[in-house]
Amino acid sequence: MSTTTKKKASLASASSNRIVTLDEFIIRSEKDFEFATGELTGLLRDIGVAAKIINREVNKAGLVNILGVADGAENESGDTQQKLDVYANEKLIECLQNSGECCAIASEEDADIIQVPQVGSKHNNYVVMFDPLDGSSNIDVNVSVGTIFAIYRRKSDITGPATIDDFLQKGVQQVAAGYVLYGTSTILVYTTGRGVNGFTLDPSIGEFCLSHRNMRIPEKGAYYSVNQGYYSKFDLEMRRYIDHCSDQNYGLRYIGSMVSDIHRILIHGGIFLYPSTRKYPKGKLRLLYECNPLSMIVEQAGGKSMTGSLHRILDIEPKELHQRSTIVIGSPAMVDELKAFIERYSALPL
Ligand code: AHG
Ligand code: MN
Ligand code: MN
Repeated sequence: MSTTTKKKASLASASSNRIVTLDEFIIRSEKDFEFATGELTGLLRDIGVAAKIINREVNKAGLVNILGVADGAENESGDTQQKLDVYANEKLIECLQNSGECCAIASEEDADIIQVPQVGSKHNNYVVMFDPLDGSSNIDVNVSVGTIFAIYRRKSDITGPATIDDFLQKGVQQVAAGYVLYGTSTILVYTTGRGVNGFTLDPSIGEFCLSHRNMRIPEKGAYYSVNQGYYSKFDLEMRRYIDHCSDQNYGLRYIGSMVSDIHRILIHGGIFLYPSTRKYPKGKLRLLYECNPLSMIVEQAGGKSMTGSLHRILDIEPKELHQRSTIVIGSPAMVDELKAFIERYSALPL
């Protein structure tokens, strides 16, 4: 190899090894948007900061008095609130309110929307929705949990307060969506509608660093993910499909934190389902805080997402903040395979 070629090769490997932090990546990507004002960039940065704070608390949860059920608490959907649910919720709200980059917030843990006071004379264009901690039942047993978020452009007049209609928008209107998974390592994955990228937290420098560029979901995978304990409560088409998965020797993986199951599916392929049960006839998962953001991520990575009655999740017109939905999401070939079972066995008009 000539000296010049050697130099070029070493430069190439140096540049591919160069650390790209989340902040740097967000700022660079801002240039892709026409008329970008920096607000969206600021919001994504705020969420990254809140994620680091939540991560710190999740990691030492066994050492400080932050495990267990919060005092007398139940959230809007009737779920028991854990102390970490409350903590994560407060931190996210605090970070977003302090920076004043959005005009209002809605959280799985709060009944109503929360207005964000205007900072100076700046009027804000965006609203943010989140599930501050997904997988609450896993907190006390050291199993991965996550934070899920969605960002929309407001519909109401920019000079007045935000309204409920700013939040009741279809998932296709999301301008950004993502999640943070507090797992074996902590990773933040997000999309602004131009592909999906993942950033792993390097604790030694306290920065999220680009680790998963342009994530693509495999066409199919070796696992299916469902709470099979409810098998007898599922409709015929779901039971038939689960039997089929077993016949095909697909493995079963179900973590109980949707965000962790979806992360595995993004990387290795697979399918996640939460169909209707007797307890949750409309499904358990929340359309605005869980289904929509994760569907945007999965679709952006080349996957598919629909309800148990074949409606694309991102096209659902929400009627209320805490609306639930059934969901079937994951590798495109596997979602199509399940679709055929629904078409063949469903008793309901599709
Ligand atoms: P959350 O902790 O935010 O209430 O969400 C839990 C969700 C989801 O993450 C998970 O896949 C599902 O509930 C588990 O429900 P089951 O225990 O009914 O399977
Ligand atoms: Mn959740
Ligand atoms: Mn939650």
